Amino acid sequence: MIKPLVMALGLGMSLGALADTQVKIDAAKTGPVINKNIYGQFAEHLGRGIYEGLWVGPDSTIPNTKGWRNDVVGALKELQVPLIRWPGGCFADEYHWREGIGPREQRPARVNTNWGGVIEDNAVGTHEFFDLVEMLGAEAYVNGNLGTGTPQEMAEWLEYMTSDSKSTLAELRRKNGRDKPFRVHYFAIGNEAWGCGGNMTPEFYTHLYKQYASFLKTPKDNTPVMIASGGHTEDTSWADHLTANVKPNWSLRMDAVSFHYYTLPTGDWVKKGAATGFPESEWMSTMVNTLKMDQFIINNKKVMDKNDPEKKVGFYVDEWGTWYDVTGDDDPGFLYQQNSMRDAIVAALNFNIFHKHADRVHMSIIAQMVNVLQAMILTDKEKMILTPTYHVFKMYKPFQDATSLQIELKNVARYKLGKSSIPAVSATAARAKDGKIYIALVNANPNQAEKVSVNLAGVAMNSVKGEILTAAAMDAHNTFAAPENVKPAPFAANAANGKLAIDVPAKSVIVVAVE
Ligand code: AHR
Repeated sequence: MIKPLVMALGLGMSLGALADTQVKIDAAKTGPVINKNIYGQFAEHLGRGIYEGLWVGPDSTIPNTKGWRNDVVGALKELQVPLIRWPGGCFADEYHWREGIGPREQRPARVNTNWGGVIEDNAVGTHEFFDLVEMLGAEAYVNGNLGTGTPQEMAEWLEYMTSDSKSTLAELRRKNGRDKPFRVHYFAIGNEAWGCGGNMTPEFYTHLYKQYASFLKTPKDNTPVMIASGGHTEDTSWADHLTANVKPNWSLRMDAVSFHYYTLPTGDWVKKGAATGFPESEWMSTMVNTLKMDQFIINNKKVMDKNDPEKKVGFYVDEWGTWYDVTGDDDPGFLYQQNSMRDAIVAALNFNIFHKHADRVHMSIIAQMVNVLQAMILTDKEKMILTPTYHVFKMYKPFQDATSLQIELKNVARYKLGKSSIPAVSATAARAKDGKIYIALVNANPNQAEKVSVNLAGVAMNSVKGEILTAAAMDAHNTFAAPENVKPAPFAANAANGKLAIDVPAKSVIVVAVE
């Protein structure tokens, strides 16, 4: 159990020995805006991700609004969730939207063949999804069914959602209780076409993408950003092939290519590694594996820059996060896992990477929102806990739509174990919409504090104030019995002569505003 700690580092500490890692930020040198959708979230029909975790139905004894549980929605509101992706994932390519509209008791039951073989009763469909989106004030990312659908089915779903005309589909939407069109901000044509979405080659998918995209017609004021399903891990052939071969014209759009990468401690899909109770070697391998995200983005940007030098097409990392062996007694297909201090570090490291690539990475979506993989929230029937990952999302809120600042790290301390070695310190800085400069510092070393000196050019820095998330154990986590084991504490430090010297504790994330 960690104790709340207020760290007021005064001059005595600041003027000590020369700090090891030097962070140089220039407030006058601004970079691209960090799109708020870097903080997007994913709600798939998977395990207890939607059913129980978010949706309990209007007749439940668990307090809810239009079927969505009030406690979870309330906690998510605190995160200012900018974007929700739905209904999958692999589920999307077997989802038929007509089965999720109209009276709930008349909707067909299907087997969720991807996730645990459970019965999907279609209680959550298009209208329910948009209730959630609107309650959270988020944007909607709808993933279309390319794998088992048709261009007609996909085009009709978009018409159903977006048309303000008197067409039969728009009138059906009205009959189902929604007069005005739903606002569809993002729409994807298929998911993981290389795998569960149809086991296709980039060439084959590219032809299909063009075919489908040709028929997706929406009103001018409700035209979604169109997303092509891209590659994963080290494969750049999808981003390359798509950007080289889809030449948008008046009827054909491709605004972004997606990319998926999951962090597995062992890198082995058969035995991924445990969510808690893991050895330090798996802390290290998790960090090594998650930091690969940077190179994967660099490689994809390279091929995209060649085909699309004007950077018209976004690179959306619309699935990322940790993936462990399942925790507890749920069906293994439910992908339920605990979430520890290690996940908090993984989240912060990835945010810092996405900020660095904000020129192309305009969206990233963690998998997933509740009870699935690296979740924000875990539930047990009527109970709910917030995970360390939730706290990092909350601490990083000021970075949503902030303007990135040039940042340079020198003499970076290394964390070493066996043959592995990674930079211990990671940092990012931006000027937020409230006008303040925010700095995030991460120490991935689980054993020792790192001395970091921050030099901010272009503005006077007297002190910094914000929050720190840290814990004594690598796998410290929250449970239903001890829900506040890991939570942020206030953090403050004084600058001397415009410079800041901080001991960043072992395994910690710090986000501060400059005063
Ligand atoms: O997030 C879980 C699954 O991982 C998604 O359904 C799929 O797209 C990916 O393989």
